[in-house]
Amino acid sequence: MKSLWQQLVRQRQYATDAAGAARKWIYAKAFQGEPHHGNFRLETEPLPATLQPGEFLAQAEYLSVDPYMRPYMLAYPEGSLMIGGQIARVTRSENAHFPVGATVFGQFGWRTHTVCDPARLEKDKPYVLPDFGGLPTSLGLGILGMPGNTAYFGLQELCQPQPGETVVVSGAAGAVGSVVGQIAKIKGCRAVGIAGTEEKCEWLRKIGFDAAINYKRNDVYGELKKAAPRGVDCYFDNVGGSVTETVLKQMNVYGRIAVCGAISNYNSAVGKVTDPQRQFVFKQLRMEGFLVWRWNDRWLEGIEGNLRWIREGRLAYEETVTEGFERMPDAFIDMLRGGNTGKAVVKV
Ligand SMILES: NC(=O)c1ccc[n+]([C@@H]2O[C@H](COP(=O)([O-])OP(=O)(O)OC[C@H]3O[C@@H](n4cnc5c(N)ncnc54)[C@H](OP(=O)(O)O)[C@@H]3O)[C@@H](O)[C@H]2O)c1
Repeated sequence: MKSLWQQLVRQRQYATDAAGAARKWIYAKAFQGEPHHGNFRLETEPLPATLQPGEFLAQAEYLSVDPYMRPYMLAYPEGSLMIGGQIARVTRSENAHFPVGATVFGQFGWRTHTVCDPARLEKDKPYVLPDFGGLPTSLGLGILGMPGNTAYFGLQELCQPQPGETVVVSGAAGAVGSVVGQIAKIKGCRAVGIAGTEEKCEWLRKIGFDAAINYKRNDVYGELKKAAPRGVDCYFDNVGGSVTETVLKQMNVYGRIAVCGAISNYNSAVGKVTDPQRQFVFKQLRMEGFLVWRWNDRWLEGIEGNLRWIREGRLAYEETVTEGFERMPDAFIDMLRGGNTGKAVVKV
């Protein structure tokens, strides 16, 4: 139940939007350590009364909060718009490819309304969402968007998992990791997830992981010995640090490691780990980092592949939804602390 004060705030915000202004979150103070509310500032910006040819106006419906925002924002000066993707509805348009009523994905940043002319963008072009067949459009930020494609291509292209092999994924209950483990199962592998709470581990087992390890509660080395008795053939790394150091010690000969992220050190200095070279030489391991944009030219293939598996009942998903644009910083801070299961999104 919303308080009267919250209702009044929301009503005033809608009035502001209707009057022709966008709300936006500014990167007010550079991140140092864990992000906090002082890093962000909410501003309004007037919207133009008319659009130029080629432009459309998009009204945000769901916004994404992602780990990459923490390290990426360090490259931006204070006062910049917070970066990020969103699902938005086109409310005015002078562009036939983005008609009024269309639902689009755009890298518009943390803002409620955006005037966009795709022709003026060199990269990060917006696109009209493919037909999700009645599934929530918010999935375009998760399993049917960037994180889903990260799992789809990163696992299959870099790890090339073979039936009967063991795949381990860290950050397993998140947007990327939960899809990685399920695709590993689809490929006939044993899937082992590493995540931060008992509830997350329970959910992973429910959606088909063979085993799940709570890295905050348990001895990961010992538990992994039990969960992967034949050793680890593929490791999809979302976290880096000591969890990764532990997994590397149990890799099999010719093991493949896809380095997707290193969230364990996004808020802090890189922790000391022992020299992993010995494992790489004697086990003849292959480790490759990647950015999902590598597969930009196959973007729809990934979305359609994951959509087909959802329809076939072979891929499950979860979303952690925070209500209210004004709570973007809360959602971001919470996600970095592990508050989300599946994809963390904000509903405007
Ligand atoms: N290479 C690419 O193109 C690409 C694309 C997308 C994402 N990524 C990377 O993939 C990783 C996962 O992203 P996502 O969007 O799926 O996020 P996510 O897993 O949905 O959310 C972040 C999760 O990270 C975990 N975490 C936080 N601090 C941690 C720590 N110190 N050690 C271990 N885990 C920690 C938390 O879960 P727990 O409760 O389990 O700790 C939290 O829920 C990130 O590293 C991200 O940067 C890379």
